[in-house]
Amino acid sequence: MKGVVLAGGTGSRLFPLTKVTNKHLMPIYDRPMIYYPIQTLVAAGIDEIMVVTGGRNSGDFLRLLGNGKDFGLKHLNYAYQDGEGGIADALSLAEHFADGDKICVVLGDNIIEKDIRSAADAFRKQERGAKILLKEVQDAERFGVAEMRGEKIVGIEEKPVRPKSNYAVTGIYMYDGTVFDKVNKLIPSDRNELEITDVNNFYIREGSMTYDFLDGWWTDAGTFESLLRAANLVAQTQHKQ
Ligand code: G1P
Repeated sequence: MKGVVLAGGTGSRLFPLTKVTNKHLMPIYDRPMIYYPIQTLVAAGIDEIMVVTGGRNSGDFLRLLGNGKDFGLKHLNYAYQDGEGGIADALSLAEHFADGDKICVVLGDNIIEKDIRSAADAFRKQERGAKILLKEVQDAERFGVAEMRGEKIVGIEEKPVRPKSNYAVTGIYMYDGTVFDKVNKLIPSDRNELEITDVNNFYIREGSMTYDFLDGWWTDAGTFESLLRAANLVAQTQHKQ
């Protein structure tokens, strides 16, 4: 399985912090944000990784990450996203890199305490389809939210006003090679983006979506509150170790 980190976007919820730099280059305690999702993939045994980014600061990623030596990698792959087409649009840039293999996609602002090794191993054995990781939260309306019927996931709603469960869909997704056909069928949402939630709903309708619960804490870092929270969680975890 290969890995893809999505690190584009305007980071508009963090203005003015992100007016002159990319959100994923901002510090989370002692490292730039982008380090954490790359580390998540490496810790899951993935060593072929692509970083998708864009905008004015895309060159800085190359300068910061180079060939991925800080992560024990031999090389890193990069793709450049033109414009602001959303998460699924950014993902479509990884099609050539994936070359039919399974991929694990991590949103560049998603930071986790533990690792996703067991979910990744389970997905390596899964014949087809996709796997998502769910986390119980108190503010589900901020995320994609799973609708459950018993143990079964029957749909995902993107930022629902009245969430049907407390299970947020984290920004860690595992897909088989058909994901790019699904991305190509998407139509832009009300916020004029190709939504990753629509990709996931394709798999759910097809009956090929599995899920696991994520172990340990999870946070995004795309708002002032979550950026601060992420730094505090990382600091606390490091001090404990
Ligand atoms: C995105 C996804 C959402 C997911 C979240 C996880 O939201 O659209 O489904 O729950 O990432 O961080 P965004 O951060 O783009 O608002």
